[in-house]
Amino acid sequence: MAKDTKKNTKKADTKSAVAKTSSAATSPITSTLTAAQQKTAGAALQQSLVDLIDLSLVTKQVHWAVVGPRFRSVHLALDEVVADARTFTDEVAERATAIGVMPDGRSTTVAKDSALAKVGEGFTADEDVVDITTAALTATIKRLRRNIEKVGGADPVTEDLLIGITARLEQLHWMWQAQAV
Ligand SMILES: [Fe+2]
Repeated sequence: MAKDTKKNTKKADTKSAVAKTSSAATSPITSTLTAAQQKTAGAALQQSLVDLIDLSLVTKQVHWAVVGPRFRSVHLALDEVVADARTFTDEVAERATAIGVMPDGRSTTVAKDSALAKVGEGFTADEDVVDITTAALTATIKRLRRNIEKVGGADPVTEDLLIGITARLEQLHWMWQAQAV
């Protein structure tokens, strides 16, 4: 009898945990956007979110991996990218929540959906780190630009956010590409 009660309690706990996390389909946060606009903006924000999280992970990884004569300048400049990527990650995720869309920044989702190339393991020459960083910025910017085109008609506020992020990432891209010339 006691065993059954324990079992039932466990079942009830699981059920309430499911109920608490089932808000993706029925969001408690309302938006003035239509369902279609919300879906378009939410998808653009979600793709940008995973790319920006991965950008911060890739650039932190090579910040640790870099070796070579330009170690100091490359090592320090990478933290500038990491800081911006982290700031933009939060802005994008919180724009999603503001329109009633639950952002998904879980590690498994980032690994599955990121547009960025996987970074290799081990210490890495400074010139290769410059190329890896430029390529990571290129991949992030390419998808941001595609999402800016898609989202404009649905939600200009999300479009504006993505444009601002892209402008800064394109400035960083220039600075990194200039190091390889
Ligand atoms: Fe550091």
